[in-house]
Amino acid sequence: MRRSHRTIRFRLTVGFMAVVLAANTAISAITVIHIGNVLLDEVQTRVRLNLNSARQVYDSRLRELAHYLNGVGLDRLRFAPTTVSEPSEALDVLLTKIKEEGELDIVQLVSPMGTIVHRTGSSKHPAGGIHNNPLVEEVLRSRLVQSGTVVFSAEELVREDDSLPELVRMKLLPTEAARATSRTIHDGGMAMAVAVPVQGPQGEFSGVLFAAKLLNQRFDMVDAIRNQVFQGQVWKGKELGTATIFQDDVRIATNVMSLDGTRAVGTRLSAEVYEAVVERGESWADRAFVVNDWYITAYEPIRDPRDQVIGVLYVGLLEEPFSRPHRLFQILFPLLMAITSAVSFGLYLLVTKSILQPVGRIIGLSKKVIAGDLTPRLGIRPPGEMGVLCEAVDRMADAIVEREGKLKELAARQIGKSQKLAAVGRLAAGIAHEINNPLTGVLTFSHLVKEKPNLTEADRRDLDVVIRETTRVREIVRGLLDFARETPSEKRPTDLNAVISRTIKLFRSQKDVRIAVREQLDPTLPTVNADPNQLQQVFLNLCLNAWEAMPGGGTLTITSVQERGMAVVQIDDTGTGIDPELLDRIFEPFFTTKAPGKGTGLGLSVSYGIIQQHEGTMTVESAKGLGTRFVVSLPIPEGRVMIRNQEEEQS
Ligand SMILES: Nc1ncnc2c1ncn2[C@@H]1O[C@H](COP(=O)(O)OP(=O)(O)OP(=O)(O)O)[C@@H](O)[C@H]1O
Ligand SMILES: [Mg+2]
Repeated sequence: MRRSHRTIRFRLTVGFMAVVLAANTAISAITVIHIGNVLLDEVQTRVRLNLNSARQVYDSRLRELAHYLNGVGLDRLRFAPTTVSEPSEALDVLLTKIKEEGELDIVQLVSPMGTIVHRTGSSKHPAGGIHNNPLVEEVLRSRLVQSGTVVFSAEELVREDDSLPELVRMKLLPTEAARATSRTIHDGGMAMAVAVPVQGPQGEFSGVLFAAKLLNQRFDMVDAIRNQVFQGQVWKGKELGTATIFQDDVRIATNVMSLDGTRAVGTRLSAEVYEAVVERGESWADRAFVVNDWYITAYEPIRDPRDQVIGVLYVGLLEEPFSRPHRLFQILFPLLMAITSAVSFGLYLLVTKSILQPVGRIIGLSKKVIAGDLTPRLGIRPPGEMGVLCEAVDRMADAIVEREGKLKELAARQIGKSQKLAAVGRLAAGIAHEINNPLTGVLTFSHLVKEKPNLTEADRRDLDVVIRETTRVREIVRGLLDFARETPSEKRPTDLNAVISRTIKLFRSQKDVRIAVREQLDPTLPTVNADPNQLQQVFLNLCLNAWEAMPGGGTLTITSVQERGMAVVQIDDTGTGIDPELLDRIFEPFFTTKAPGKGTGLGLSVSYGIIQQHEGTMTVESAKGLGTRFVVSLPIPEGRVMIRNQEEEQS
């Protein structure tokens, strides 16, 4: 019992835990993965937007340059004290001023024919020659302001200014994952360039003013991007956002820092990004390891006016500030789920304990009841069905107590009655023995005296009285001996129905019977082991009593039936009935309600004695004024008990 109750709890627990763990694990996994994807998407979108902003900063710088140059081209050169078509001291002063004010690196004046009229710069390289410059060519053609990003080779730079090669020259630093290269030095330059048309005093087209501002090793642009796009946010001492300008694959301006705290110029683009952005001209966004940290990055090509990819614009967001909370979430969320599982398991145990606790109590109570202790009760009424069950169990225990009490009382009464009758029987038997012998003497001698010839008629009559009364006493004594079971019975297989029929015949012949007599005998009744004469005496006594109880007539019914291995004979009358308080006494010897001399009160006690001797029982039920029922049950020997089948029952 205990084991099965444990199994129920065990099974419930395992089932519950399986469901909770599966659900929580699934939720954890899905949430962590989903949140991770959402976060990555979010950061990448943000970096793309940042790259757009960076491009706008770049373009606006270019526009500013164009505005500046257009302004000076229109005003100063138009009304210059000298003509633009020939080099002169005054022109050099003017152009140098424009260069310095505009923080420019290269300034050229080109004739409408396309030859360089004047160059500023230390090299004083002779002017002349056809200018191979797409921006200038476009202005010559369209007479409109042109701007863009252009590349200068080292030779071209020298031609402009001796100091320029030195300015752009940088060592290439070994970079993991970059394309293989044999170069160790980067010496070209990339610049923002503008070409504007110049007009003469009469408004005629008189040449092209071209200016360029190198981007190499100039950090104002990338820092402006950082400040405007990322508002200079710092995370743990590191720039949160970084920007870089690449010329081809070389980092020429950046605010990504090397470990030594210097700007990481000279490092190169990874081969993968190079292929995508420079070779295929695509933009590229992903996480990438840049110099010495992981970044969420975005790259897009920088094109020259001929639409060739000459460089790359890059922005990157330090990954850690975003990945850290995600990593924390990756740990904390499953941890939270584990705690939730543990707490729900705990609650579950509490609940099942409170539910199953009454079961344990019920088991305990039943064990006690089985052991014979009827006093304990559950006393608890948990809510719901369990409460109903507990109440039912308590009520069941109450019912057992009540039933047991009744049985004990009945048994005690039965024992008391048979003990009393046994004691009376022993007494009666003792007296009967003592009286029997003298009675025999009195009878014998009375008969002898009666034979004497010299007796008077009166003497003989007196002697007859002596003989008659003594005979009567002897009958009584014999009855007493019967009751005390002193008279041995001769048992043999006996047909009860036959005994009953014979008794009724005898009864009818003896008495002037003015009552109805009914026989309801079961023809299939098996024989019992009994002394038929004694049984006849029992049934006769019962019939006589019934007859005596019905002085005004009535019905006497005798029924025989087989019941639970017993042959049962029922004698019912519709007579006066018996007072309830007398019911217990009617089996006592000499108990009678008849007038003195009418009855001895031995009929029932003798009958009781006989039935006891046959290992049977005899009981009485009576209702005052309605009638009385005597029930005699005799055991049917085993093997003779008939199991009646349905056919017989129906017929
Ligand atoms: N069928 C009955 N109906 C009503 N009372 C009965 C019935 N049978 C017995 N009694 C009561 O039980 C008493 C005892 O009966 P029991 O047969 O032992 O003695 P009795 O009939 O009085 O005398 P006896 O049988 O010796 O002539 C009766 O006096 C009567 O009061
Ligand atoms: Mg009687």
